[in-house]
Amino acid sequence: MNILLTGGTGYIGSHTAIELTNAGHHVLLFDNLSNSAEKVVERLSQIAGKNLTFVYGDVREAEKIRKILQQYQIDAVIHFAGLKAVADSVKAPVEYYANNVQGTINLLEAMQLADIKTLVFSSSATVYGEPDYLPIDESHPTSAVNPYGRSKLHIEEMLKDVASSDSEWRIACLRYFNPVGAHQSGLIGESPNDTPNNLMPFLARVATGAYPELKVFGNDYPTSDGTGVRDYIHVMDLAEGHVAALEYLKEHRGWHAINLGTGRGYSVLELVHAFEAASGQNIPVKFISRRQGDVAICYADSSKAAAELNWRARRDLADMCMSAWLFQKKTDSES
Ligand code: NAD
Ligand code: WQD
Repeated sequence: MNILLTGGTGYIGSHTAIELTNAGHHVLLFDNLSNSAEKVVERLSQIAGKNLTFVYGDVREAEKIRKILQQYQIDAVIHFAGLKAVADSVKAPVEYYANNVQGTINLLEAMQLADIKTLVFSSSATVYGEPDYLPIDESHPTSAVNPYGRSKLHIEEMLKDVASSDSEWRIACLRYFNPVGAHQSGLIGESPNDTPNNLMPFLARVATGAYPELKVFGNDYPTSDGTGVRDYIHVMDLAEGHVAALEYLKEHRGWHAINLGTGRGYSVLELVHAFEAASGQNIPVKFISRRQGDVAICYADSSKAAAELNWRARRDLADMCMSAWLFQKKTDSES
């Protein structure tokens, strides 16, 4: 298939591009480079052993998207493009809704015009809000606690309406838990353009000495060591999940929400210790107060993905840390 990846040079998009190419698909990377760099395209071509096509642009440019869909005879779209920093979304909600929601509306209009009705959307475990029970399955009630989360929920609901309006649509909302790690080559990984908000990329920079310590947000949660627990999933497992979702949509019409997680949680300190073991570096930590909006524990019931997509996360925490460390070292040695 010819597959358009919006946000294709970003963290998850770039890793998915490799897995799709390995599975025999042709990918077109589309990105405005607001949180990624064009050099990713060269890296991807190096890993894939063939040139991947990149088009610079914004999903809010409706006409451009429409042209691309036709020009490249696109069969399906994976929609990664969007802004994802929770704190920024609180400060700039209009920007978040414009990028995420308006961007998706433009994409859907262009897809309708081009009669392309297969879509995989990057959703998030954030749509579950504060968990009522654990592990979180797809029937868990949804709610949003910040504009970023609300943008994901609005989009999911919009997509549900689209699928109900026309039975030709095939839409998968993949609810990612906490993606971490990098491709085994160390050539691509999570490389935010600003100071990292998420734990793993910050941790990796403490290990290199770029930051003096990791600030741990709260050690008074009702968990084994008092720090927050999350379902960290290797980005290459996540990438494989997208290939499986496209296969699934070949046989299934309608709207589907599917968790992509491992089904088990690790605390912040467990991740820190795993990273120390993988990197051989000491990671100084400082406990500070809880971060507003954080939940104590969050992990997936991943049985639907196993049953429907025939997909399971295979890589362990050591793998996640080793690959993230390899990528960080390579990135540092080049700068
Ligand atoms: P990322 O920032 O690395 O990738 C997103 C890409 O989209 C970037 O390359 C950025 O330049 C591009 N982009 C942003 N707005 C755009 C626009 N208007 N037009 C074109 N390109 C645009 O983030 P990621 O971690 O790869 O996340 C991909 C998707 O997955 C996002 O939608 C995010 O909300 C979602 N998600 C991420 C996580 C996570 O923890 N990384 C978890 C759950 C869901
Ligand atoms: C993980 C754990 C923190 C940084 C976020 C979004 C969510 C989704 C994934 C997109 C928590 C702790 C973190 C630090 C710390 N993204 N932490 N010190 O908050 O689970 O999820 O990313 O959809 O929507 O909210 O991920 O990596 O920020 O935090 O102690 O410097 O690490 O408190 O327990 P989170 P995270």
